[in-house]
Amino acid sequence: YRRLRVALLGAGAVGSQVADLLLTHSAELADRAGAELELAGIAVRDVHAPRDVELPAELLTTDAETLIVGSDIVIELMGGIEPARGYILQAINSGADVVTANKALLATHGVEIFDAADQVGASVYYEAAAAGAIPIIRPLRDSLAGDRVQRIMGIVNGTTNYILDRMDTEGAEMADVLADAQRLGYAEADPTADIEGYDAAQKAAILASLAFHTTVPLQAVHREGITSVTKSMMDAARHAGYVIKLLAVCERLTGRGDDPAAEAISVRVYPALVARSHPLASVHGVNNAVFVQAEAAGDLMFYGAGAGGVQTASAVLGDVVSAARRHIAGGVGVGESTRAGLPTVDIGQVVTRY
Ligand code: HSE
Repeated sequence: YRRLRVALLGAGAVGSQVADLLLTHSAELADRAGAELELAGIAVRDVHAPRDVELPAELLTTDAETLIVGSDIVIELMGGIEPARGYILQAINSGADVVTANKALLATHGVEIFDAADQVGASVYYEAAAAGAIPIIRPLRDSLAGDRVQRIMGIVNGTTNYILDRMDTEGAEMADVLADAQRLGYAEADPTADIEGYDAAQKAAILASLAFHTTVPLQAVHREGITSVTKSMMDAARHAGYVIKLLAVCERLTGRGDDPAAEAISVRVYPALVARSHPLASVHGVNNAVFVQAEAAGDLMFYGAGAGGVQTASAVLGDVVSAARRHIAGGVGVGESTRAGLPTVDIGQVVTRY
């Protein structure tokens, strides 16, 4: 097999699992990819920091810039905007394909990154950026590319689903279960990102952009978190046959304004009432689910682990195999930035029961 040089940036909960899987399954991955995936190094902030998985010390470096030079595939799992953005642009401009799980970066600088990739014919893979292990990026971008998505309703944040689920099933108070969620390690470094809906809003912007073949800026996503949900609201919902879930709703709207044929999309994250009979009501714990309604396909539901190191590593590794296959085939980029541009409108507070 031809050998491809792989650089990994970040060795946190997901990164350390990705490194471990790349090393332990190297023979199998080479067969799948048609290329040997040589882990050239792992860039970290502190080579002595404790890790979930023990990694070969000789692979650790604090010099990401040098590691990127000459790499065929760069896996960015550092999170945050900078320096991740700079490293990804460096990787693209040096001819590498990029795999990232960085939802914050893609939701805010996606256009810049996809344009840079298009210019040099590179590809950016990000199956792990929304809903963890669940395959949802490719289904929206590829499998449903011939259909018209009407609406997506997603439970895309594991931490808030865990909290709301325990409030619902045990009558627990939010403050008591938040600490448990943090201990389990699913919450973002700053849990405000989870409970105030920022994490879900970033994922919603990514999913809506793919589903409607447009660019949804993060500012266009209406966002409400779960901090206003009380135990008594949860009880009232239960008595009425509903459960409260933090939903990311991405919807095609028609007939707005003077033109009955005009289309726009609405993307909003808020605590919604979901009927107990709806499939989304039975998504428990830190699981995620994305319910897609498409014109021809009808209703589809994608379900599974939305967070967790090794689970999310599965999605990253799938992207690495795709990148390797494309790289050795000498293919061109996937052309993310050629988008029609449906406008996004804020329809504000919408009380909808699903
Ligand atoms: N904090 C996120 C969650 C992690 O709870 O879903 C996965 O993106």
